[in-house]
Amino acid sequence: MEEKIEQLLNEFPDKIKNAKTLKDCDMLFLELYGKKGHLTLLTREFRNLDKNLLQRIRPKFLSVKNLEIDLNKRKEEIREEGYRKLESEKLDLEEIASPASPDRNDGRRKGHLHPTTIFMQEIVELFKKLGFQQYDAPQIDTDYNNFEVLNIPPEHPARDLWDTLYINSKFEIRNSKLLLRTHTSNSQIHIMREFKPPIRMMVLGRCFRYENLDPRHEHTFDQFELVYIDKGLSMANLQFLSEYFLKHMFGQEIKVRLQPGYYPFTEPSAKILGECIFCKGSGCKICGGVGWLELAGAGMIHPKVLENGGVDPNIYSGIAWGVGPARMAMLKWGIEDIREFLKGDLKFLQKF
Ligand code: PHE
Repeated sequence: MEEKIEQLLNEFPDKIKNAKTLKDCDMLFLELYGKKGHLTLLTREFRNLDKNLLQRIRPKFLSVKNLEIDLNKRKEEIREEGYRKLESEKLDLEEIASPASPDRNDGRRKGHLHPTTIFMQEIVELFKKLGFQQYDAPQIDTDYNNFEVLNIPPEHPARDLWDTLYINSKFEIRNSKLLLRTHTSNSQIHIMREFKPPIRMMVLGRCFRYENLDPRHEHTFDQFELVYIDKGLSMANLQFLSEYFLKHMFGQEIKVRLQPGYYPFTEPSAKILGECIFCKGSGCKICGGVGWLELAGAGMIHPKVLENGGVDPNIYSGIAWGVGPARMAMLKWGIEDIREFLKGDLKFLQKF
């Protein structure tokens, strides 16, 4: 027994050092610790051995057992060597794609993300840090999910807030007409049906409205919405989320305030105002002289909406909070016309 252990201690450190691949290491591991491995067989013999002998061979046996550490180290080295090799063989495709100088004119131009995508990725990263997960809701949805379940029955005057594009089709889902969603708030019901609270979701995506097009209105645009449902949430959490967002986007100095607003699916509802970043509150053309800009809409999810989603409003409360990223990006980068975003005009896109 003692000899066997000695022999292992003589042989294996070298074998490990000479292992060339991860597979070699795995084979050595099996030789030692596998079902029929040396160590496995040795331990099986222990029960027949004399106690004194066992005491004596213990330290050496432990050294053999610790060979696993060497083996793992060697594996790590092999991986490192692999990475270094990969690194040195890397083909720099970027270099090939990018022009040597900006005015190079051979048709090869380096692409980049669309400005709204850049902006939206930033928002997503920001709220990821607070534990929000991304959720995708359908862009073609039912009148029921986009309106009715959100406390906006058919023929209700509140529908005038959203100029809606209905889909001209006989096809209906549970007797509800199909439409292009007018806001990401259609996600609220999908989320509540799919998950149990506590819920922290963020929804990002295309929305559509039958708008009169002008520099501030586009028929196709993105919205970003937070749906946050938990015990004991209040307007204080809503204020925090608004400040967290606006301070990150426009700097720590920006003042943020809530103003009463109206959305049928939140109660109370609030408009989130930020002090005008152009005139710093003194009043200018962009803020219409009031010194504040309306930057987001939000509120405590209406108890009826929670109930519609199967959430007990006596136990839980919810926050819904939404912004139009394009409008924010316009402010941040001084873009004057929202229609620039989807025009596909390279002169505009290349500025970012
Ligand atoms: N869905 C609203 C809109 O499109 C915005 C909003 C989102 C309001 C969440 C309150 C809460 O106008």
